[in-house]
Amino acid sequence: MDQTNLYSVRMRASAGGKHISGAERLVPHDKITVAVHELMTRAEEKIRKPDDIVLHIESLGNRPPKEVIALDLVTVNASDVISGRGMASRVLQTAGVSEKAAELALRHLSEGAAPSGGNMRGAIIMDSRSGERLEPDQERGIRAARFDWSEDAAREIAESLTAIGLTHYRTAEALALATKVSHGPGVAAELCWSDEPDYTAGYVASRQTGYVRFPLLKHKGETHGGRVFFVDRNELNLNRLIDYLQTEVVLINAVGTCGTALEPEEYFGTRGESCLNMNCQR
Ligand code: COA
Ligand code: AMP
Repeated sequence: MDQTNLYSVRMRASAGGKHISGAERLVPHDKITVAVHELMTRAEEKIRKPDDIVLHIESLGNRPPKEVIALDLVTVNASDVISGRGMASRVLQTAGVSEKAAELALRHLSEGAAPSGGNMRGAIIMDSRSGERLEPDQERGIRAARFDWSEDAAREIAESLTAIGLTHYRTAEALALATKVSHGPGVAAELCWSDEPDYTAGYVASRQTGYVRFPLLKHKGETHGGRVFFVDRNELNLNRLIDYLQTEVVLINAVGTCGTALEPEEYFGTRGESCLNMNCQR
């Protein structure tokens, strides 16, 4: 794939004024039609049919994208939501997030992080020590955009994830998003679970720990969810980070390892608090 002259193809769909679906691709000119078709199918497959679909096709010019390797992925099984969230907090602390900030983040996501009480339209940016929220607009948050797998990496990650039983398209897309975010200047870690009522999985991701997936981070039927990007205040230039997350083009050109699911004692026991990611420099 020619990595210059790429196009960003973005789709967002809403019903009754409520956002219900969003996805994007980075493709060369001759793959735009395929990408549009794929994104339209995505918008239409929701149980609630969209009454408004916006497709945005934008040339990214000849500036080459930033190329990165995907985070390694591991799944840690938890028997219930409380222990899952406890383990998520523990992994966040491995990545340099304070216990206080981790607890605040978990509370925001479970109670609805927007000041109006609902879900935000993007992510919280949180000081990884104090837990202070730094995003300029707490209803909106910040959305990571303009990232994708290269054609070869997309094929490889689909194969690797299928081999360990992860066939939902969300996993590859969330891993791509988390990979972009983890390379953000000043980013220490991310916490996420979906606001989709039926999707109970969530993750903690960082360059230090890799992408640690928990199948049970919320109860089925729960409508609250969101994302928190934890930042190291000493290394942070907030405007630079926001610009990176929203506009810098990131192409993931190689996959990391995708391990089979581990029981908590296997993950925390044999690997301890050590670095899971093979690319980790620690
Ligand atoms: N939730 C709620 N509203 C959303 C939304 C979301 N996730 N994404 C977009 N919108 C609505 C908002 O009203 C937004 O206005 P705002 O900027 O004031 O919040 C408006 O649509 C325009 O959003 P914008 O980001 O400018 O649209 P876009 O067409 O350029 O890109 C997305 C839309 C959804 C493709 C992009 O924002 C995105 O999230 N990309 C990543 C998708 C992905 O791979 N996610 C992985 C999930 S596992
Ligand atoms: P989803 O994974 O699509 O279910 O989204 C879960 C939550 O993550 C949403 O409620 C938003 O708060 C947030 N979110 C959605 N898209 C993005 C994005 N592109 N970047 C950062 N946060 C997002």
